[in-house]
Amino acid sequence: MPTISFATSKGGAGKTTSAIVLATELAEGTDVIMIDADPARRLTRWSTLARLPDTLRVVTSGGERTIQDEIAEAQRAATFVVIDLEGSASRLTSFAIAESDLVVIPSGEEQQDADAAIETLAEIEMEGRARRRAIPTAILFARTSAAVKSKLEKHIHRELTKAGRVMQTELHRRTAFSSLHNAGGGLRQLDPADVNGIDKAVANAQAFVSEIVDILEESRHAQTA
Ligand SMILES: Nc1ncnc2c1ncn2[C@@H]1O[C@H](COP(=O)(O)OP(=O)(O)O)[C@@H](O)[C@H]1O
Ligand SMILES: [Mg+2]
Repeated sequence: MPTISFATSKGGAGKTTSAIVLATELAEGTDVIMIDADPARRLTRWSTLARLPDTLRVVTSGGERTIQDEIAEAQRAATFVVIDLEGSASRLTSFAIAESDLVVIPSGEEQQDADAAIETLAEIEMEGRARRRAIPTAILFARTSAAVKSKLEKHIHRELTKAGRVMQTELHRRTAFSSLHNAGGGLRQLDPADVNGIDKAVANAQAFVSEIVDILEESRHAQTA
């Protein structure tokens, strides 16, 4: 069953948040297991804030010695496995990447983010070579403004489009997304009295999820062709 990891060496790029958005939306319709493979345990902390649906489980990884078993077990138990990784390259990160059907690389529209995304693409490529398997990747623009792009932002988009596959959907900078770290749960559990723009965030999340599903489907076909 598909395993999707979130990776980039830039801290604060949006890995954990985007992983939560993907997993909670997928869990509306099917079984999902999330694996917290970041020693900072931000995902585990989020999972304790609110009651999660029965379709969503969060596993806190025991580290590089156990990650492979944790992934294999999650793949047996759930329809989707979503892995939140730490920002630095490590054996833990490379084991998880090796087991992934898709690695999503979140990036803001700043040079540091773009540099980190490019570095991360190179690491994934190396991992793929070592495992003799091309590991599909998708760059996700996250924390972006919904406004017209500036010259610098356009430049960053061009640079990353040259470096790899860029998702059409962006996860914009929205209070509803950052609120998940306070409220726990998914977007649909947020209280409209506390958080503005939940509807727009849900629509944004749905577009994100359906593009991820399309990419997975496409790469599955490419592999069996
Ligand atoms: N799409 C978004 N909209 C609003 N805030 C976001 C978004 N993505 C991330 N953030 C915020 O940015 C910060 C860093 O995000 P996080 O997902 O923890 O990054 P990472 O896991 O890559 O370190 C968090 O405070 C989070 O709430
Ligand atoms: Mg994180």
